[in-house]
Amino acid sequence: MRTSRAEIDLAAIQQNIRKVAAKVGPAVRVLGVVKANAYGHGLVQVARAVTEAGATYLGVAIAEEGVALRQHTNIPILVFSPPTEENLEDYVRFDLDATITSMETAYALDAIAGSAGKRVRVQIKVDTGMGRLGFFPKNAVEAFRTISNLESLSLVGVYSHLATSDEVNKEFAKRQLISFKNVVTAITDVLASSARSNLPSKSPKTIFHIANSGAILDLPGSFFDMVRPGIMAYGYYPSFETTQSVDIRPALTLRSSLVQVKTFQPGMSISYGRKYFTRKSERVGVVPIGYGDGFTRLLTGKASVLINGKKYPIVGTITMDHIMVGLGDDYEVQKGDEVVLIGKCGDAEISAWDLASELGTIPYEILCMINNRVPRIYLNSNTPLTD
Ligand SMILES: Cc1ncc(COP(=O)(O)O)c(C=O)c1O
Repeated sequence: MRTSRAEIDLAAIQQNIRKVAAKVGPAVRVLGVVKANAYGHGLVQVARAVTEAGATYLGVAIAEEGVALRQHTNIPILVFSPPTEENLEDYVRFDLDATITSMETAYALDAIAGSAGKRVRVQIKVDTGMGRLGFFPKNAVEAFRTISNLESLSLVGVYSHLATSDEVNKEFAKRQLISFKNVVTAITDVLASSARSNLPSKSPKTIFHIANSGAILDLPGSFFDMVRPGIMAYGYYPSFETTQSVDIRPALTLRSSLVQVKTFQPGMSISYGRKYFTRKSERVGVVPIGYGDGFTRLLTGKASVLINGKKYPIVGTITMDHIMVGLGDDYEVQKGDEVVLIGKCGDAEISAWDLASELGTIPYEILCMINNRVPRIYLNSNTPLTD
C-alpha cells in the first residue's frame, strides 16, 4: 500500500446525509450525488454508504458512472448529462434514469427501448436560469405531454438546477424557484386532468426536484419531492456565503509520510527551477505525493502540510511525484513521520477550503483533483467491500 493515501470516513458521509434528511423531513427523498468518483471519495463505496444512510436515489454525471454503479445497487440512478447517440443503449441495458433535454433524444431513446422490448425511466430537465441544459420553462409542459405519451419511456421526474443558491443574495435563486414552481403547477394540472379523464397512467408519480446543497441550507421552499446534496455529503459548505444550518463534517483526509529528511546548508536550492533557497541551515523533508496525484503544481509557494499537529510550508516547486517541506530547525520531525495535506492533525487542520482559497477555486475542485493514483482507504465501513 502506498504511503500517500486518502482516508475516507464513511461514517462522516452517512452522518452528513442523515442530517440533510432530518433537515428536509421524512416526506422528501434524498438523492446522493456521487458523480466524479463521488467528488473524489470513491463511487461505489460512497454510493453504498449513502444508501445505507437513507438516500433512495443516486445521481451521476455520465452514463459510464451509472453503468459502473448499476452492478452494485438496484436503487434508481439518475444521469445528469443527457444521453448521446453512442450511449443510448446503456440506459436500456442498465436501467438508468435518462435526463431528457431535447425531443430528439426522447424519440431516439423511445425507439431503442421499444426495439429491446423494454421501458426506460426518464426525467425532464428544465432550464430555469442555470443557462446550461434543459428545456426552457415555456417548452417544458409541452415536452412533458409528448414524452408521457411515448410508449417505451416512463416519465418519472422533472427537475432543474440552481445557479446561485450558495450566494448570500438569493434573489436570482428565488426567481428560478418561482419559474420551477410554475412548471410544477402546470404539469400537476396536466396530470390531474388526465386522471380525471381516466386515462390509464403508465408512469409512476412524478418526482419534482431542484435543491442542491446551497438550497438545502438556505431555501426551505425548494425541497419539493427530493433534494440532491453533493458537496454537503462530503462535509463542506458550498461557499462562505451560505448559513451552516446543517452541521456537517469533512470525510476526507489526505495523508502521506516523510520518506527523507536532510539538513541543507544556507544558500542551497530546492526542486526544479531553483525557486527556493535555504536562508540558513535548514531541515527539509520529502513527501511522496505530487501533481501526478492531483496535488496541483499551482500550489507551489502557497500550501502547507501538518506534521505532529504543526504547520510547515511546502518549499520549492511541487513536482510530479514529490513535494518538499521546510522544517526549519525543527529536529523533532523525523523520516517516517505522518504528513497531513488535507484534514486534521492534532488541533491543527488544513481544509479543502484552505487550498481552494489559495487557488481561487472551490473545495469541489480540490476534492475531485485527487486522482486514482492515490489509494482510498475506507474507515467505518460496516459492509465488507468486494471491490
Ligand atoms: C444536477 C446536479 N444536482 C445536484 C448537484 C449537487 O450540487 P452541490 O454539490 O452543490 O450540492 C450537482 C452538482 O453540481 C448537479 O450537477
